[in-house]
Amino acid sequence: MPKWLKNAVFYEIYPQSYYDTNADGIGDFNGIIEKLDYICSLGCNALWINPCYDSPFKDAGYDVRDYKKVAPRYGTNSDLYRLFGEAHRRGMHVLLDLVPGHTSEEHAWFKESQKAEKNEYSNRYIWTNSWFQAPSGYPYVSGECERDGVYLLNFFKCQPALNYGFYECKEDWQLPMDHPDCIATREAMKDVMRFWLDHGCDGFRVDMADSLVKNDDANKSGTCAIWRNVREMLNAEYPEAAIVSEWSNPQLSLKAGFHMDFYLNHRGNGYNTLLRDYENYKDGEDHSFFCKDGEGDIMRFLKDYLPKYTATKGDGYISMLTCNHDTFRPKYSLSDSELKIAYAFIFTMPGVPFLYYGDEIGMRYRKLKSKEGGYVRTGSRTPMQWSGEKNAGFSAGASDALYLPVDVTEGSPDVASQEADENSLLHTVRELLALRHAEEDLQADAEFEAVFAESGTLPFVYRRGNILVALNPSEDVVSVPLDVDGRKIIYRIGGGVAEDGELALGPQSCLVLK
Ligand code: NOJ
Repeated sequence: MPKWLKNAVFYEIYPQSYYDTNADGIGDFNGIIEKLDYICSLGCNALWINPCYDSPFKDAGYDVRDYKKVAPRYGTNSDLYRLFGEAHRRGMHVLLDLVPGHTSEEHAWFKESQKAEKNEYSNRYIWTNSWFQAPSGYPYVSGECERDGVYLLNFFKCQPALNYGFYECKEDWQLPMDHPDCIATREAMKDVMRFWLDHGCDGFRVDMADSLVKNDDANKSGTCAIWRNVREMLNAEYPEAAIVSEWSNPQLSLKAGFHMDFYLNHRGNGYNTLLRDYENYKDGEDHSFFCKDGEGDIMRFLKDYLPKYTATKGDGYISMLTCNHDTFRPKYSLSDSELKIAYAFIFTMPGVPFLYYGDEIGMRYRKLKSKEGGYVRTGSRTPMQWSGEKNAGFSAGASDALYLPVDVTEGSPDVASQEADENSLLHTVRELLALRHAEEDLQADAEFEAVFAESGTLPFVYRRGNILVALNPSEDVVSVPLDVDGRKIIYRIGGGVAEDGELALGPQSCLVLK
């Protein structure tokens, strides 16, 4: 396990929208470098950068045309290497986004694979043997290439699936995982990883990590075997490199070798009931735990989380996130005061937390036309709001030439105003992360135990190592009998007292006791 993960707090950057230094309306590597000190000042000591490789951008870069070359719109490979160096100089680590399940249809491998003549890449993607042989259960494209056969997709139409083989071969065109051409795909992906690790990258967020082997069994035995093989390579050659999976099944992913797995926003799961419960009701009624009048129920979270946590303790980390580039921003339904309590939770839980750029100031979700395959996700991908200056300080370019419109509507937050306001969400984020760095018991490993957690009543109190965290997301004053003698309050949001065997919390408050 890379040692640095224990105290890591990640900041996710959607590079298109972070900071534009050459006035072309789109963010760039130099922009990220210029903002590293700001990111450090938040308490984030690690970055995840969404795909920044050469791409036709039909899925915001998740359609990779060349795994080893960055997209010119962000700068050059040398700029990215410099970013790694600048981050390391500040004690930070940088993860790139690895997209192993598919490439762009414009990738050189796919161009070769489409040819009628057999070549080294014929089996790099998954093809049936003839144009009328349709694969059942998988999306596919037919009728576009000189090669006979149809090819399988992994996501959008622009993303043909790479061929890691089939766990169970049911048709004559399905190759087993140990076929040399399927092993070659896996080795090609390891070669991509080595390329970036050798240039100073510290690991990868892995896109659709569960999607590699087709006809896999319920335990994803085939896909897990591939990741175990990758992890062996990392252990032997890059023991400090880290991988985090987009999988949201830690019982499988962490045992397969991932160091971290995202707890993703899936309708009805534990994480989803905390911040985005409105997705579970047709009329949009919000019973999110962190909604102040939602009458949320922490047991809906714990019933889902605890088995995951208990089953994977010691294997790796579950990663809590404020949001990501695929999800509604939490500000969509929660106010800043609600977010303060939600973030107090996210940043004091076990595992390795992720903060999505802009969530530290409560950037809003915008209703926008789809950009680069974003569809409903586009509204969470708008330019970072730095100040009250032109384009919110994101770019000196023409406002109508920006990657996406900046939110300049009434009341939109920005970094400069929140820096100046000591009650701002930004300040709370800084305080919470400083607390996490100061207290080992609030970091990735210390034990978690629910101390007071009941349906229909508050507060929610949990223990991390020797520290107690009490949360009251509601507007009511709440209390619980609890032995707090000898403990001191080391951090608070809102009002509250701990004395005489009782913990009393004011409206929308958080107490941390040691
Ligand atoms: C998951 C990524 O997070 C998403 O943005 C992308 O569209 C799909 N995978 C396909 O790569």
